[in-house]
Amino acid sequence: MYRTHTCGELRAGNIDQTVTLAGWVQKVRNLGAMTFIDLRDRYGLTQIAVEEHSPAEARETAARVGREWVLRVTGRVIERESKNPKMPTGEIEVTAERIEVLNEAQTPPFTIEENSDGGDDLRMKYRYLDLRRAPLQRNMILRHKMAQEIRRFLDSEGFLEIETPYLVGSTPEGARDFVVPSRMNPNQFYALPQSPQTLKQLLMVAGYDKYFQIVRCFRDEDLRADRQPEFTQIDCEMSFVEQEDILEVFERWAKHMFRTVMGIEFTEPLRRMPWIEAMEKYGSDKPDLRFGMEFAELTDLAKGHGFSVFDDAEYVVGFAAPGCAVYTRKQIDALTEYVKRPQVGAKGLIWIRLEENGAKSSIDKFYAPDEVRTMAERCGAKAGDLVFILCGKKFKALTQLCALRLEVAQQLGLRDPQKFAPLWVVDFPMFEWDDETQRFYAMHHPFTSPKPEDIEYLESDPGRVRANAYDFVCNGTEIGGGSIRIHDAKLQATIFKCLGFTPEKAQEQFGFLMNAFKFGAPPHGGLAFGFDRLCSLFGGSESIRDYIAFPKNNAGRDVMLDAPSRIDRAQLDELYLELRPAEE
Ligand code: AMO
Repeated sequence: MYRTHTCGELRAGNIDQTVTLAGWVQKVRNLGAMTFIDLRDRYGLTQIAVEEHSPAEARETAARVGREWVLRVTGRVIERESKNPKMPTGEIEVTAERIEVLNEAQTPPFTIEENSDGGDDLRMKYRYLDLRRAPLQRNMILRHKMAQEIRRFLDSEGFLEIETPYLVGSTPEGARDFVVPSRMNPNQFYALPQSPQTLKQLLMVAGYDKYFQIVRCFRDEDLRADRQPEFTQIDCEMSFVEQEDILEVFERWAKHMFRTVMGIEFTEPLRRMPWIEAMEKYGSDKPDLRFGMEFAELTDLAKGHGFSVFDDAEYVVGFAAPGCAVYTRKQIDALTEYVKRPQVGAKGLIWIRLEENGAKSSIDKFYAPDEVRTMAERCGAKAGDLVFILCGKKFKALTQLCALRLEVAQQLGLRDPQKFAPLWVVDFPMFEWDDETQRFYAMHHPFTSPKPEDIEYLESDPGRVRANAYDFVCNGTEIGGGSIRIHDAKLQATIFKCLGFTPEKAQEQFGFLMNAFKFGAPPHGGLAFGFDRLCSLFGGSESIRDYIAFPKNNAGRDVMLDAPSRIDRAQLDELYLELRPAEE
């Protein structure tokens, strides 16, 4: 037997027992007559004491060991002289009778402790060492626990976990596909699924009316803190349901997760916010509701006073930052610079300082004092608040103001990771217009059904058609999203047409789905949650990488495995591939 106990297990109750532990050396303290070794495994740390009266062999080994060596230690549990209340095993130590070196270790490139001295790149390269650290272990354990709770809940609701293939054709979700060449089918490629969307719809046609899968998805898109090229979804689909049925089940599921994993009880129904309200009040389809600072439209008050910036704008909008009237000129200038950054893209920032004895603003030249005050008050400002105003094209101005709202909230410490404000955003538009390519795109995906009352506008005014689509949002992040699907081949063909697919192209790409619908497709719908995002939300971190054992860096590289990499000529030949210089 390699060990009788783990390094996190021993307590005062074990005193006088002879135990064997195995683990890694976290720290060695050599105090001359005595040596202390902190032995670590994923359960915790135990102090090993090697004393003057310890066997010579144990003393010799202790003198030689270094950080991260793998040891097996046998000894007696004794009460510690100086107890450490911060450590669960802090009441005891093990006085070594035998120390066996199971493996030596090179000095690790960074310290493997609660806080490491290693930079991001180094820790990614040696991810297996970083994973030894307690914070990452806690994240992996949280993820595991959440996966178990997800399965427990969905199983109890009658969902079946069914796997779908990874080597498939394109399943579009708005990103580029990762493709895999097929040796057996020369010059042909599989696409890795961006989600199992079409496959789960086929499972509905097949009669598996409650499906789920904790499944890897692959998307070649620009990466951010909450995006990885391969990530995991909790993917679900149900038949014979309407939007309400899906929201009901998954609201209970979300509350179950908050309760069982976080110990947080949400007793009230979650808020449901139409997309347009989310956009107009918060400038985002994933509003952060941990704090207020709602927007107010000021177009009518702002126009017609000779201030050309407002006069020329389609939309003027502002919000009040609580208690920020004390902001200095320098602070306001910094926020102005913030909104002018290319990522935000505003041209300038207007402000109104509301004080007990009046309002002061950057537009005092154009407006009477009570006009400025009226604007501030429309934003809900009270004395002591600072109002920020942006203008421009409606949705552009709203999105820019959203960036500022979040930045100000960050500065005010209002984005508290311990606080959770979940909601459903509903009634999304069906299509999104893209100026660059001058065409409509599916806001969710092309299988999403329009609201029946809006179907008549599909061809005449696609922009006003709303979808039976919904997102689960928490703390400014889209955690999940889904829709009621089209189950009628004719309507699906119309939607493809709206999206600019020729009938041939639609048939080529999605013929299998449209054909399946001819064999009795039940009404169905579903949704998918981003599992990595849910983990990082619960864990209180910005980055989903911290919850993925082996993540990719921002350039999509696995620096530990050095992937992607070149393949040799023989392999290329087998796949009928020719390489071109990257410059072309
Ligand atoms: P959607 O594309 O909205 O919907 O994805 C669902 C959820 O997956 C998460 N997510 C990501 N997480 C990490 N990295 C990424 N690159 C990434 N992309 C998406 C988000 C998102 O809310 N098939 C539909 C679902 C459905 O209609 O049932 C779909 O994939 O949390």
